[in-house]
Amino acid sequence: MSKPCKLDGEPRLWSEGDSINDLTALLHCAYAKWVDHGIRFVASYQDDGTTATRIRERECWILTSAGTIVGTVTLYLPKPDSPCEWYKRPGVAVLCQLAVEPTHQRHGHGRGLVTWCEQRAVALGAKDLALDTAERLSTLIAWYEGLGFRKVDYHQWRNVEHRNVVLSKDLSKNPLSRGEIR
Ligand SMILES: CC(C)(COP(=O)(O)OP(=O)(O)OC[C@H]1O[C@@H](n2cnc3c(N)ncnc32)[C@H](O)[C@@H]1OP(=O)(O)O)[C@@H](O)C(=O)NCCC(=O)NCCS
Repeated sequence: MSKPCKLDGEPRLWSEGDSINDLTALLHCAYAKWVDHGIRFVASYQDDGTTATRIRERECWILTSAGTIVGTVTLYLPKPDSPCEWYKRPGVAVLCQLAVEPTHQRHGHGRGLVTWCEQRAVALGAKDLALDTAERLSTLIAWYEGLGFRKVDYHQWRNVEHRNVVLSKDLSKNPLSRGEIR
């Protein structure tokens, strides 16, 4: 495991002064490990325009260390016409584009970002926090299950080859993940 990095503080919202190119680069390098497993997440190859579209009108949170983006997650309240059935349910908030820069992984930052989303989801009035990920990535799914998420559905996005499992956490029943932003 790499040496823990000192974060500049709590997650902060993406702002216009931040580099979309740096955010895209972080997503590419974090998601690259799944390409070796045969899973091509859009985040592993998307261009800056797609990154900008995927954070527009959503809460994009970033973690920085010495001014460099080392982690990110995006949170939103889906529209009722979402292609994903579970996301149409009232009171569901969704997190996506969760990533921690590889040399900063395994220090609790990922868990901390999920906890942050749980707090934000509650503040936005959501009852559940959901996400979807490749159904074949059992270790990643187990990590989410360890944070209190459970499998609720499957979904096939039109622009990806693999099928995704939908995971959700009932925020009214489950305590917040014990994540720390360190
Ligand atoms: C998923 C991801 C965000 C997790 O980020 P992270 O910062 O490594 O997450 P955490 O450190 O909170 O937890 C990860 C692991 O480190 C362990 N860990 C955390 N702090 C630790 C510490 N101080 N010492 C030892 N282990 C530690 C956790 O127990 C967990 O272990 P496990 O995976 O073996 O069960 C990161 O791996 C990533 O960016 N992956 C690529 C993109 C991706 O898959 N995103 C999600 C798509 S749905």
